[in-house]
Amino acid sequence: MSAVMPPYFDHVVVDEAAIKARVAELGRQLAEDFAGEDLRLVTVLKGGLFFLSDLCRAIDMPLTIDFLAVTPYEQGRGGVVQVTKDLSDDISGASVVLVEDVVDTGLTVNYILSMLKRRSPKRLEVCTFLDKPARRIAAVPIAYTGFEIPDRFVVGYGLDLNGRYRNMSSIVALDDAAILP
Ligand code: IMP
Ligand code: MG
Repeated sequence: MSAVMPPYFDHVVVDEAAIKARVAELGRQLAEDFAGEDLRLVTVLKGGLFFLSDLCRAIDMPLTIDFLAVTPYEQGRGGVVQVTKDLSDDISGASVVLVEDVVDTGLTVNYILSMLKRRSPKRLEVCTFLDKPARRIAAVPIAYTGFEIPDRFVVGYGLDLNGRYRNMSSIVALDDAAILP
């Protein structure tokens, strides 16, 4: 039990050992699938940072990393998110993998994908650490998934509740009471 653990902790969904093993597998798979290509890993701050950091070291080939930041979409606004920090590098002609912490409704990834597509990458794939298909609104093509999990609010390994618990090494589900407004 870590001191970071929230008081309304319910149960561990994915533990640290399982995360390490799965990230290593994904890294090997990406290295194989993108061998010889100009691989660019792109992630969305802040949640994707933790997965990206481990994943990029599990991919045994030259690559670059880049970041963007968005405001969360607001309900009823048709899945429009605002980009608050754009990528630093041009991605035209490159093989881009959008690395995400979680795909839930799919609205965020959907929006980012359409934005990145307009910049003419040679290839554009999604690699998400967690997939929560139960609440999907936008159909998102996900090429690589760490873990598919049920519709529970989880924190850890980059995922937060009001900015906290990103620094936990495992994924834990919280009591519903914790996330009620
Ligand atoms: P979307 O619903 O797929 O657009 O996901 C939007 C964002 O909601 C994600 O990038 C996360 O920041 C957040 N999110 C979705 N599910 C969870 C969760 O279980 N824990 C923490 N954040 C979540
Ligand atoms: Mg996020």
